[in-house]
Amino acid sequence: MSKAETGSRERESEQAEKRIADIRDEIRRHDYQYYVQDSPEISDAAYDVLMRELRALEGRHPELIVPDSPTQRIGGKPKEGFQKLQHSRPMLSLDNVTSEAELSDWERRVRSVLGDAKVTYVCELKLDGVSIALHYGPPAEPGGSHAEPTRHSSKAPTERGGVLLRAITRGDGAVGEDVTTNVRTIRSVPLSSPQARLEHSGMPPEFEVRGEVVMPIEGFLALNQEREEQGLPPAANPRNAAAGTIRTLEPNIVAQRRLDFYGYFALHEGENVFGEQTKALDALSAAGFRVNPRRTEVDSREALLGFVAKAESERDTLGYEIDGVVIKVNRTDQQQQLGFTGRAPRWAVAYKFASRNGITRVEDIAVQVGRTGKLTPVAILHPVAIGGTTVSRATLHNADEIERLGLKIGDSVLVERGGDVIPKIVEVVADKEHPRGDRTFHFPQRCPVCDSEVVRAEGEADYRCVNANCPARLRESLLHFAARKVMNIDGLGEALVTQLLEHKLVTGIAGLYTLTEAELLTLDRVAKKSAESLLAGIEASKKAPLHRVLFGLGIRFVGERTAELLAASFGSMDALMKAKPEELEQVEDVGPRVAQAIAEFFAEAKNRELVERLRQAGLTFTAETKRKTSQLAGLTFVLTGTMPGLTREEAKARIEAAGGRVSGSVSRKTSYVVAGEDAGAKLDKARELKVPVLEEEQLLEMLGAGPEGHSDHAERGNPAPGGR
Ligand code: IVH
Repeated sequence: MSKAETGSRERESEQAEKRIADIRDEIRRHDYQYYVQDSPEISDAAYDVLMRELRALEGRHPELIVPDSPTQRIGGKPKEGFQKLQHSRPMLSLDNVTSEAELSDWERRVRSVLGDAKVTYVCELKLDGVSIALHYGPPAEPGGSHAEPTRHSSKAPTERGGVLLRAITRGDGAVGEDVTTNVRTIRSVPLSSPQARLEHSGMPPEFEVRGEVVMPIEGFLALNQEREEQGLPPAANPRNAAAGTIRTLEPNIVAQRRLDFYGYFALHEGENVFGEQTKALDALSAAGFRVNPRRTEVDSREALLGFVAKAESERDTLGYEIDGVVIKVNRTDQQQQLGFTGRAPRWAVAYKFASRNGITRVEDIAVQVGRTGKLTPVAILHPVAIGGTTVSRATLHNADEIERLGLKIGDSVLVERGGDVIPKIVEVVADKEHPRGDRTFHFPQRCPVCDSEVVRAEGEADYRCVNANCPARLRESLLHFAARKVMNIDGLGEALVTQLLEHKLVTGIAGLYTLTEAELLTLDRVAKKSAESLLAGIEASKKAPLHRVLFGLGIRFVGERTAELLAASFGSMDALMKAKPEELEQVEDVGPRVAQAIAEFFAEAKNRELVERLRQAGLTFTAETKRKTSQLAGLTFVLTGTMPGLTREEAKARIEAAGGRVSGSVSRKTSYVVAGEDAGAKLDKARELKVPVLEEEQLLEMLGAGPEGHSDHAERGNPAPGGR
């Protein structure tokens, strides 16, 4: 390399370093606006552009990648489970009070220790999640691998400030588990807090934030729907779901679940950083953490009770579960004076809301038939008021669940209701006042709707009606197809679907697209105006993107997210229909069972005919191209050697379809060299020029079949509660 060349490379490298630092700052700022403040400043598309540029630059300069770069949220798997780590000071629990009188008792005890000194209290929501400790400190040297987030640097903090080093679960309070790789994927957890922001907030360069990881209710419902579709037992409540997620060994899964984090303690070497809890909360917020906005400092019992009452009345509208209010003595010195009793501090207390449980009798067990033919037992309850609503049904999921509960018809049961969550039977209650029921429930041998045979496949929890034309299945599949999150056909609700089927105006999904106004007008309570608007809705659904059509088909195990991944990775209905199970399994989230279900679906003549009719009706059969064609825009690839899965032509076609360029020779302008087996001179040249080298798998990832396959736009879906 000539001197001039070396000089120009150095200059380029310096420029890249500067640009990388700038983009990272900008992305961090937007992440903060979006995930912590719920007030985005730029569009998702503009955000994607930044993220893509950063990825490309880091690809060309891998030596500049740092663990707290916004591109590094999803890292490797924790290999041997989770390491046990000691807490800086025990993570305690709280004593509970459940009434005004008990709260007054607690307050009196506080007063008796603090005497006449002025006392104020901070009221916070008691978030129903899992508590966690996050440790931040000066960043490791650039180029450090985030596989070892615990690496410390002795260097003075740089402008990068505190970097997330470790995240530890509560565990037994003294020792928890290192779940750093998983917590890194939570978007409201800053990977680092800029030095300027830290200084402004008053936080030291090394600190610990304690707080709560919660699963928003929307995410919880989506998770359970997915589990249901996959024949898995549902998670009982958002807290269990959050706890399970934080301890999975797949950071990818954690990333999809959209957990959220709220901070409530700021510590340094196990001691409070600030003299007051209000200051700590404000500082955490200023340092870039999400702190629950529903908090207040009060100095009277009336105000304490006012906060509790308001929180309870808002409980159902928050978007996440709370189970009470936490009241803390504000001043740190007074907290120290009060000290601890055994497991809990004397300076704080949890005012627990009345639990949303109720005891009632199971009058009967009905069986519903779903769109996949699945039979779901539903408990018909003697109506009971729980937390302001009347509950008269609760799902029992499947036969195993009935067995697990040991439930008989006539039993009394404890029913629990969460924020938005479907009522759940917790257990059978049997005592003097609640004698046992005596009717054993037998799963029907025949479908309760069409009287066809019912089967339970080996190893599966569910019974299914074998009749593909079972009216219940038809009805449910039409309702599913029309649902808001699927094809979003307004006005096609239960009453209308029932009539359409009764009058034999449709016999399946495709029939919707040949309905006429005259036909609709023959139905009860359908006037010209509603017929027109329904037809307009059906017409508009033709524009729904491919993944929604796929979701709408009702293929077993293919939920919303899987449909999205399939559409993004195959690009068209035809490519998907032709795919072999092995090819389907290349897609994230698609295992052998799902792949087989998809292949079987498209092998069925009736289903192929349905797809044909939908094609003729003019539904969208190709994936949105906007995102696809621009994914690799501006990047140049050189292919060399033999790749295990793709031929050279296939790889070229897919790169070009995603907006990238493929060139024959390696130069400094090359963004990536994709090297297979027996790669020769081109690979050497890539190494010489420090052009990043990818394996086939990494290329597929960039193309959208791998763990980071969806665009950052998709990554930003389902923001924190209150977001868009
Ligand atoms: S303070 C020693 N503040 O409630 C102080 N805890 O029963 C204990 N929690 O384990 C923590 N929201 O998981 C505190 N605003 C809040 C909280 C909160 C939820 C949980 C936390 C803790 C449990 C105590």
